[in-house]
Amino acid sequence: MNTAPRLHNIALIGFMGTGKSSVGQLVASHLRFSFFDTDHDIEARAGKRITEIFAQEGEVAFRQWEERIVAELVSRTRTVIATGGGLPTHEQNLTSLKTHSLVVCLWASPEKIWERVRGQSHRPLLNDSDPLAKIRRLLETREPYYRQADVLINTEMRSVREVAQQVIHQFQMARSAGG
Ligand code: S3P
Repeated sequence: MNTAPRLHNIALIGFMGTGKSSVGQLVASHLRFSFFDTDHDIEARAGKRITEIFAQEGEVAFRQWEERIVAELVSRTRTVIATGGGLPTHEQNLTSLKTHSLVVCLWASPEKIWERVRGQSHRPLLNDSDPLAKIRRLLETREPYYRQADVLINTEMRSVREVAQQVIHQFQMARSAGG
């Protein structure tokens, strides 16, 4: 008996700056799926930017927003979900996503991530005196969670378009295997 969950959706996980939102939007338009970004949804519902949530309510409050949203996603179908970089470090989030989505992790080295995110200021966790060291530290603690994805894609030598093609290919393969 095939006990694998039905793959209704695609969930993109991975560190900040790995391209989850841009890849996700491209994949969604290609498959004619909806696109859902957990960070955008939190900002819309809270009525403030993520930096403000972190500053005024703290990271714990932000993580509670993430948990609430992930729990609601179980009823979704035909959706590409882009998640915030820290979301899968809460084990129940990952477990929940896996019940309805092919979970794809987009990967890049700390140096590449720093190259992509430097100059941006909307990520409170990188407002640090040594952002590259912070990226290295965070990536190291998060790696065990990211590695629990169904598929891992290295984004370093690939364009957004190429990564999107890979994601679609993996999704179609997983589906034809019975998911
Ligand atoms: C975070 C990543 C951000 C956002 C928040 C916290 C993290 O999302 O959720 O700033 O903990 O890595 P992106 O990964 O989309 O930048």
